[in-house]
Amino acid sequence: MGKRTLILAFESSCDETSVAVIENGATILSNVVATQIKSHQRFGGVVPEVASRHHIEQVTWCLNAAMQEAHVTYDDLTAVAVTYGPGLVGALLVGVAAAKAVAFAHHLPLIPVNHMAGHIYAARFAGRIKFPALALLVSGGHTELVWLEEEGSFVIIGDTRDDAAGEAYDKVGRVLGVAYPAGKELDMMAHQGCDTFNFPRAMLQEDNLDFSFSGLKSAFINTVHHADQVGEQLSRDDLAASFQQAVVDILVTKTTRALHQYPATRQLILAGGVAANTGLRSQLTAAMQAFPQVELLQAPLQLCGDNAAMIGAAGTMLYRHGVRAGLDLNADPALEFPYLDEIEG
Ligand code: KG4
Ligand code: ZN
Repeated sequence: MGKRTLILAFESSCDETSVAVIENGATILSNVVATQIKSHQRFGGVVPEVASRHHIEQVTWCLNAAMQEAHVTYDDLTAVAVTYGPGLVGALLVGVAAAKAVAFAHHLPLIPVNHMAGHIYAARFAGRIKFPALALLVSGGHTELVWLEEEGSFVIIGDTRDDAAGEAYDKVGRVLGVAYPAGKELDMMAHQGCDTFNFPRAMLQEDNLDFSFSGLKSAFINTVHHADQVGEQLSRDDLAASFQQAVVDILVTKTTRALHQYPATRQLILAGGVAANTGLRSQLTAAMQAFPQVELLQAPLQLCGDNAAMIGAAGTMLYRHGVRAGLDLNADPALEFPYLDEIEG
């Protein structure tokens, strides 16, 4: 038996400070997550400066807790992985600085991880990733279809033209007075209601793999404001159900279109914060019956949101591919996977 690969991973791109220890890329020895959601709720979204300060306060505590819970010492570690983008620059810098400090002090290699690759690799804890794979990546900041031709290769084949799906959830939730982040609560409300409003599903007929959610968001907000003005009471559950059904229809339609266009796909990966949505999970599962040759690999529910375990899983894959960063690694807030047309020139 070869030596085990033990990766210490840091994640601090948004409003969760997280440190994890991952064994051989697939076993979680610890995954400590300190969330700041309560601090940001009164502002209705993440305040970058507040986020950075919380990360600074939490990161050492999270590191010590993760090492202790994993029952490992620094001598046992193989490498240190860290999210260096995309995200809030001041938030990212805290994780990057902490990871560099540990790597320097303990003479360990440093692995730079794209946060979105991390989200995809959360699915690694549900099973092995088989290539070529297609990933539907739905989070608060991103909504994209990513083609994974082989391990370590990520290419965007579809993207949102405006809002991300999670962002749309949070914005319409705000109009209903639902606390940030609104996705989970709207998801629960949606199950009590019916799709009675029939909100627009943008770009469904268009022959591309791109998404748009701003028209849907505006239609929702206009409906609620109009009802307020005329003193009409609308069912909040029906509003939530109608919104959710439109989002799910758009996501499922574009994803199945991608599967038709990429017939070599062996696996469809569902990941990102919005991948926790129960409506999306069940309707995507149902739609996959038309693709018996494609396996659906969904990120485990508790690993859909931001966490360092997923960064450790992606970090292990990158480590095996020889990816390393120097101690001059910087945060890259606008880091993106390459787009298909950039690659094809
Ligand atoms: O991936 P994530 O934790 O952070 C980013 O990288 O953006 O995603 C957070 C987003 C938020 O917009 C939140 O409202 C949404 O995921 N979300 C959900 C659900 N749980 C979280 N959206 C829909 N349904 C859910 N059950
Ligand atoms: Zn995320």
